[in-house]
Amino acid sequence: MFTARDGTKVVFREPRSTDARSLMDFINEFVGEEKSGLLIDKKTNIRAERRWLKQRIREIKGKQTVMLLVEYDGRIVGNCDVKRRMWKESHRAVFGIALNKEVRGRGIGEALIRKTIALAKQRMRGLEAIDLAVIDYNKRAKGLYGKVGFVKVARMPRAIKEERQYFDEDWMVMRL
Ligand SMILES: CC(C)(COP(=O)(O)OP(=O)(O)OC[C@H]1O[C@@H](n2cnc3c(N)ncnc32)[C@H](O)[C@@H]1OP(=O)(O)O)[C@@H](O)C(=O)NCCC(=O)NCCS
Repeated sequence: MFTARDGTKVVFREPRSTDARSLMDFINEFVGEEKSGLLIDKKTNIRAERRWLKQRIREIKGKQTVMLLVEYDGRIVGNCDVKRRMWKESHRAVFGIALNKEVRGRGIGEALIRKTIALAKQRMRGLEAIDLAVIDYNKRAKGLYGKVGFVKVARMPRAIKEERQYFDEDWMVMRL
């Protein structure tokens, strides 16, 4: 249980196989949101979501992924994960986070990142660095990543094409 600075109480927990529908509703909300900050641009369906979730749970069991969901009012409103890369990149993992509009800007993202990274450090032996890519206009995410210890290492020009417009991405790394 985490209490945000405005008093909102949410639960951070690992995913279960019964979460597919709630996770699908959660992720599909980003599809219609202008400048959502996420890559997804097409709604998913329950079959694809079940498959996706099954795979993630398998990775969690194998200690290749850690994932925490945010539950609020019986619904999933957030997700954060650290997924280990493979082979000669297995000392690195890739980071992702998303919160629904209704719970942003209350300190939940910061607490969620810190908890997820702590769990990754605890479970993933030999992990040396966590990296991410953030679209140029996403000032809130960049501010938060800097605050928790990610450092910008590169910029990928025209990484994202959104509504026929190109945007650069910043690549950031946290060394563990
Ligand atoms: C990005 C996101 C995870 C941030 O979570 P959040 O709960 O909204 O952020 P928080 O309230 O925890 O803010 C934590 C810190 O971020 C920074 N921050 C927040 N809003 C900011 C803004 N508008 N500009 C710059 N920095 C900002 C601040 O450092 C803030 O700390 P402070 O409140 O002590 O000043 C969340 O807004 C989100 O999911 N957005 C949509 C999806 C997305 O963009 N995902 C990331 C893709 S790379």
